[in-house]
Amino acid sequence: MENTLVMGLQWGDEGKGKIIDVLAEDFDAVVRFQGGANAGHTVIVGSEKYVLHLIPSGILHSGKLCVIGNGVVIDAAELIKEITGLRLRGIVIGDNLAVSDRAHIVLPLHVALDKAREAARGDGKIGTTGRGIGPCYGDKAARTGLRAGDLVSPGLKDKIAQIVAGLNKQLTGLYGAAPCNADEIFTLCQSHGEFLKPHIKDTTRLLHRLRDSGKTMLFEGAQGAMLDLDFGTYPFVTSSNTCVGGTFTGTGLPPSALGRTLGVAKAYCTRVGSGPFPTELNDSIGAMMQTKGGEFGATTGRPRRCGWFDAVAARYAVKINGADGLVITKIDVLDELEAIKVCTAYELGDELADWVPADVERLAECKPIYREFPGWRTPLRNVKSFADLPDAASAYLRALEEAVGVPVKILSLGPERSSLIRRS
Ligand code: IMP
Repeated sequence: MENTLVMGLQWGDEGKGKIIDVLAEDFDAVVRFQGGANAGHTVIVGSEKYVLHLIPSGILHSGKLCVIGNGVVIDAAELIKEITGLRLRGIVIGDNLAVSDRAHIVLPLHVALDKAREAARGDGKIGTTGRGIGPCYGDKAARTGLRAGDLVSPGLKDKIAQIVAGLNKQLTGLYGAAPCNADEIFTLCQSHGEFLKPHIKDTTRLLHRLRDSGKTMLFEGAQGAMLDLDFGTYPFVTSSNTCVGGTFTGTGLPPSALGRTLGVAKAYCTRVGSGPFPTELNDSIGAMMQTKGGEFGATTGRPRRCGWFDAVAARYAVKINGADGLVITKIDVLDELEAIKVCTAYELGDELADWVPADVERLAECKPIYREFPGWRTPLRNVKSFADLPDAASAYLRALEEAVGVPVKILSLGPERSSLIRRS
């Protein structure tokens, strides 16, 4: 099995968690490389539902090494809560979880700053998850951050004192918020370090050893291409590179370590938080997608905005990531529709655009041009192979492949592990 990246082609929430969980069986290790507890990867096993924020979705399989790479930002309290919660449910977590010593730590001050900045933005708010992601990556870039390795190093107290003083200046001076107490943060971080110590490792070295010994890796993307810090709908994006480049900077592995990239997309589109969304539907069809698709954030519970499949955005995401194949999820949500639309181009003033413009104001002006397809009007849930799909569903998938430019390799027809069909 070639090392594989599974990443989102839309605005996150494409159903990557389930796909990773199913594919994990074929790999030795599952690796997160960016994002943090802003992610919420839902996996359903039998009657049990798991929502994973930081731990790779391979954890539900025994014998798989789960790695949280250097590119991830870690809220240690959240990670400990997740480990403890999974252990209580009988999931073994020991040597099978490795956390990079280079990964940055999300402090309570980052969470407070995230919320204060959002409140100060007023109507221009990004709609962040409030998990401290932007401020933590900001400190990483400013070279003032705290790393997982620091949690278990003797210099922790001094580092915390310096970092807290700097962050308090922003919190109190810029936002009039209450300051945090450095001693309390130190005590907290020290206890987090004690808990996480067995897991904190040089994961870059570990991954290279795995690679050298012929072991296989599945890279688990979080969020989606349209939320990428560079290629997404800036500034309505997250603060990490969700695209393929993040796999390398977030692990320390070279591009030659990646064999193939699977791009995951819903059969329609959703977005949570602010920012342009050309195919958004504010009508009964959008409401049906939200209800039937259970489109509420796994991390924040916020309702997701819903709309038709945007093939311009998906094609753009496939191109910049070099995706080899598509994984289409939640197609069953469209089962009852009489007609289904796909946006194949944007009308932008007098022009036809087939590429996502860099400027969000221009993207907000884009009017979708649709192709319409007849619905299949029958439940797809129990379909067992591509050959058994109703003609209308096959035609819809062919249209997506044509519009996006790569073949559909996997189709997910429901939340359970079993409701997934593969095409070789
Ligand atoms: P942040 O990552 O919390 O800073 O949020 C920035 C933007 O990314 C907001 O629009 C969030 O709603 C969005 N976002 C962050 N993580 C996810 C995710 O896992 N799924 C969907 N949207 C996300």
